[in-house]
Amino acid sequence: MHPMLITAVKAARRGAAVINRASMDLGQITVTEKKRNDYVTEIDQAAERAIVDVLLKAYPGHAVLAEESGASANLNAENEYVWIIDPLDGTTNFIHGFPQYCVSIALQHKGVTTQAVIFDPTRNDLFVATRGDGAFLNDKRLRVSKCDKLADSLIGTGFPARDMGKLEEYMKMFKVLTERCQGLRRPGSAALDLAYVAAGRLDGFFEKGLNSWDMAAGALLITEAGGIIGDFTGEQGYLESGDVIAGNPRIFHQLITLLKPYA
Ligand code: IPD
Ligand code: CA
Ligand code: CA
Repeated sequence: MHPMLITAVKAARRGAAVINRASMDLGQITVTEKKRNDYVTEIDQAAERAIVDVLLKAYPGHAVLAEESGASANLNAENEYVWIIDPLDGTTNFIHGFPQYCVSIALQHKGVTTQAVIFDPTRNDLFVATRGDGAFLNDKRLRVSKCDKLADSLIGTGFPARDMGKLEEYMKMFKVLTERCQGLRRPGSAALDLAYVAAGRLDGFFEKGLNSWDMAAGALLITEAGGIIGDFTGEQGYLESGDVIAGNPRIFHQLITLLKPYA
């Protein structure tokens, strides 16, 4: 394993330890609403501190972009290394004890994601990837699914729970997909959904309005597992726009054709 990936895994496990401890007594957790339907707990913050602590101890000069603390002071164009962190993706699930959430950590080098870790502490699923070296789940090599028809596919997505202005458009997309695929799922952790595409548990995924920390690690897992990820027109730039479509190559192209009108 690449030394930077080893550090990332160590950091993810530290964050997950904070999350696991807290999950045993959910009643004790203080929940704060950042924006409408956008929740943060002290656990998100404590997990993030634990993660950043491990990463910066190993690599003090690296920059950090993390959901709860934002950009580190040294995040600028000159800094070649940036860690992109979602300490707890699926906070709403976590608050309710619904076991679908994860830690997501990606490392970018000169703007290119080179290392990725997604760890699901409820199942002990450790997804990792190094650019050019493949993607793995608990040491087993990952390949995207072989499903080639949308009619046979299981597709993941996320609702625009925070931006009700987008709901109407989403309902149209739901209708189109529900009519054409075998099943549509909204598990509630975008990072884990992307890891599931890499693992072939989902054949495709789409969502709008995500942040880079929801997608950066999952994106590398998918490309290293032979899948494709892009925006609603099939181009790159999803990390900036937040609108993303992913899948095995066949399903990706069918999703793009179907969802392009909603770009
Ligand atoms: C959220 C989850 C969810 C997605 C939201 C994200 P958070 O992340 O990934 O699945 O639909 O858009 O913000 O807030 O739980 O880290
Ligand atoms: Ca998130
Ligand atoms: Ca989060």
